[in-house]
Amino acid sequence: ESPENKKVYEVLEQVAEFYHSKLREDRKALDYLRDRGIDSSTIKKFHLGYSSSSEELTQLLKDLNALEIYARTGNVIQIDEGKYRDLFRNRLIIPIRDSRGRVVGFGGRLISGEGPKYINSPESDIFKKRELLYGFYEGLNYLRELKSALLVEGYFDVIALHQEGLRNAVATLGTSLGKEHASLLSRVVEKVYLLFDGDEAGRKAMRLAIPHLLKEGLEVYPVFLPEGLDPHDFILKEGKTALKEVIESSPDIFGLLREKIVKGYDVESSVKDFTYYVSFMKDEIKAYTLLSELSKLTRIPIEVLSAKMYRTPERSQ
Ligand code: CTP
Ligand code: MN
Ligand code: MN
Ligand code: MN
Ligand code: MN
Repeated sequence: ESPENKKVYEVLEQVAEFYHSKLREDRKALDYLRDRGIDSSTIKKFHLGYSSSSEELTQLLKDLNALEIYARTGNVIQIDEGKYRDLFRNRLIIPIRDSRGRVVGFGGRLISGEGPKYINSPESDIFKKRELLYGFYEGLNYLRELKSALLVEGYFDVIALHQEGLRNAVATLGTSLGKEHASLLSRVVEKVYLLFDGDEAGRKAMRLAIPHLLKEGLEVYPVFLPEGLDPHDFILKEGKTALKEVIESSPDIFGLLREKIVKGYDVESSVKDFTYYVSFMKDEIKAYTLLSELSKLTRIPIEVLSAKMYRTPERSQ
């Protein structure tokens, strides 16, 4: 780690503290969090903050003698000689930590006015969205203990699930799940529950995430939420017990497809999906066992199933 990066990490930590202290002074932001069911211990745990003033942030950075070095992260933008604008101004701040607990960037949620709902720190050598999972550090002990992760789409899903005691929830930073995320998860857990938003985008993201997880040898449990709801919405509407029940009653991806085949739902596409997902499995023996089961169930010879599997074009994904 270069001395320059060390300084950047220190400054990021201080900026996170600054935003966190500013939240206490901002009625509008506090009301926003209260209305979304987020309590004060959760605010502290995740060090949520608020960006109210580019001038005060600039002054802090001057005091730390870190204006230039911090501007290189893209989190503040120089607009004039000695004048900087906070990229996150007027936004609720979600500090993002790497797996070692260092603040590496921020997510910023709009709480009033015009603009994109979320913005994130720009990519840099210390903020790589491909390698980061929100909630991973905060939930590390639980991930290790439970050996399972609840993979969600949004920052507030992670925050709300942790608050309700589901402290193994993690999320990508608005990007699709890739092999680096899967590899990070495989270092601490065996099972991954996918709790994506109950919409077309969520279901599509789920299909794309599964191969990466299977390649890392992880067991995958898709959990389907009611149309239009994400895990945070679901908790607010139905409560945490209901969410736990949905999670605990969800079979793993192969169990789910087997069930559909047995019940005669979408048999053809379920058989295809089954062989498609099996083709990504790390453990060849487990893969073969699953295919033999499928063969018995469908009375399709295993040679035919495996031929199909290797012909699936998406295999190269
Ligand atoms: N996201 C983003 N930029 C956007 C919209 C979304 O980076 N303009 C990312 C954020 O990380 C967000 C996640 O994608 O948390 C999921 O998006 P979405 O489901 O649209 O938002 P929610 O997290 O449900 O937002 P909220 O509950 O705060 O309304
Ligand atoms: Mn602190
Ligand atoms: Mn969504
Ligand atoms: Mn949401
Ligand atoms: Mn959502």
